[in-house]
Amino acid sequence: MTTQARFIALEGGEGVGKSTLMRGLVVWLASKGIEVKQTREPGGTPIADEIRKIFKSPPTGDEITPETEALLVSAARAQHVSKVIKPALSQGRWVLCDRFSDSTRVYQGLFGGVALNDLEWLIRFSTGGVEPDLTFLLDCDVAVSHSRIGGRGSAMNDDDSARYDQGGHQVLERLRQGYRKVAGFYPSRFFLLDASKSSEEVLIDACKELERRWKL
Ligand code: TMP
Repeated sequence: MTTQARFIALEGGEGVGKSTLMRGLVVWLASKGIEVKQTREPGGTPIADEIRKIFKSPPTGDEITPETEALLVSAARAQHVSKVIKPALSQGRWVLCDRFSDSTRVYQGLFGGVALNDLEWLIRFSTGGVEPDLTFLLDCDVAVSHSRIGGRGSAMNDDDSARYDQGGHQVLERLRQGYRKVAGFYPSRFFLLDASKSSEEVLIDACKELERRWKL
């Protein structure tokens, strides 16, 4: 099938099932003959992956500020957009990205306290105006995501799911509400998925939206 290349981002707080949905979407799109570039943020290029390491595991004793976080993810994003996302789209490949600029709006902005106006400037500068055509927001009650994070066991220890989970339900709830607010700023770009459903059902809901939106 020949279709226009699309850029799709998956967003949501910790433990909502983005990775599982990503795997399912890649298989489903491939069944339609659509070639997908799968990527994630922060990361996606060797430089951006190095920045990810600092971002996810900052040296102890030097607490990272939300402003520094915003600059780090923006530097990684600038590299990622120009070296991976734009080239893939211009070659006609679809891009599926686990997190993009809305993570910055929520984590550094609404959660971290960096002014959204400043972030908008940074986002424009780092992306050159590239935005997802569609953003799936995986949204569920924090009791569900909390128990899923717990289920990851020891993998959590070097993962910043642990960082955000330390504050427990309250932090997850703030992230959830942050995402719902950002989704309200861009209603035509966002599609909310009920992530409390089974992973199979979430995938079906996402595929139905792709069929509806782009007649796949
Ligand atoms: P993940 O790849 O396991 O989702 O981890 C990425 C972490 O980085 C997650 O806690 C969200 C955070 N993050 C930000 O704080 N700002 C951003 O702009 C991005 C892309 C991610």
